[in-house]
Amino acid sequence: MDSILATAIMAAELAGTKIKHYFHNFDSVQIESKGRNDFVSKVDKEAEQIIIDTILKNFPNHQINAEESGIKANNSDYKWIIDPLDGTTNFLHQFPHFAVSIALSYKEELRYGVIYNPISQELFYAQKGKGAYLNHQAIQVSQHETLENALVCTGFPYYEFDYLEDYMNGLNLFMQQTAGVRRPGSAALDLAYVACGRVEGYWEFNLKPWDIAAGALIVTEAGGLATDFAKGEGFLESGNILAANPKFHQNMHQALSNVTKPELMA
Ligand code: IPD
Ligand code: CA
Ligand code: CA
Repeated sequence: MDSILATAIMAAELAGTKIKHYFHNFDSVQIESKGRNDFVSKVDKEAEQIIIDTILKNFPNHQINAEESGIKANNSDYKWIIDPLDGTTNFLHQFPHFAVSIALSYKEELRYGVIYNPISQELFYAQKGKGAYLNHQAIQVSQHETLENALVCTGFPYYEFDYLEDYMNGLNLFMQQTAGVRRPGSAALDLAYVACGRVEGYWEFNLKPWDIAAGALIVTEAGGLATDFAKGEGFLESGNILAANPKFHQNMHQALSNVTKPELMA
């Protein structure tokens, strides 16, 4: 296996083992508040340190952009984008749906993505041009095209409510026109679930690069599209993402553009 991919997988699995340990020894977890409904625990911090140590041991000159410790700007075109625990709210409620998310870009182009759920022990990964995998088996997005009978997922706002009305409009529409809407609670896993065809599509506004970098590559390598709401590639900058198989993406985009503020679709 490619040494970068092997390092990313090792980092995700080591961090995942730490997270799983705390999940089963929850009394020892101290929680700090970063703001209203925005928490961080020693689990996020320790998992992140494990990931960074693993990466820098193998690639000491690479740049790091990690959620809890910020940017380490080395002189390199390689940048690791890290969310040590995506789905912290689920973790803190002992709701077993969360993941480690690690991506690597080269000259700002996504090249590698790894997402690991340590509870289900599902490892999703992709390398640019080499396909997407779940536990080492190739995965594909769903081939379903129409809103009818489709399952879609999204995020709900919980500490910033600027896009509340747009979410409610989208929910109103998809609740009535699809088989159902899910809010699982981890953007990384939402994208991984699009990639392996468990849901047909996913949309969310206002995310951070570490929530979506790995998942976006995994979706595209599984034959899907991951775009911003202008169908462009600016999702890491805007934080607004729409991911689905190509036909469903078109239908979902059309549906959302009818009920979403035009400035959000631009
Ligand atoms: C959150 C999750 C969630 C999404 C939030 C993210 P965190 O990440 O991905 O699904 O709706 O916007 O911030 O805080 O658990 O790493
Ligand atoms: Ca996150
Ligand atoms: Ca996180």
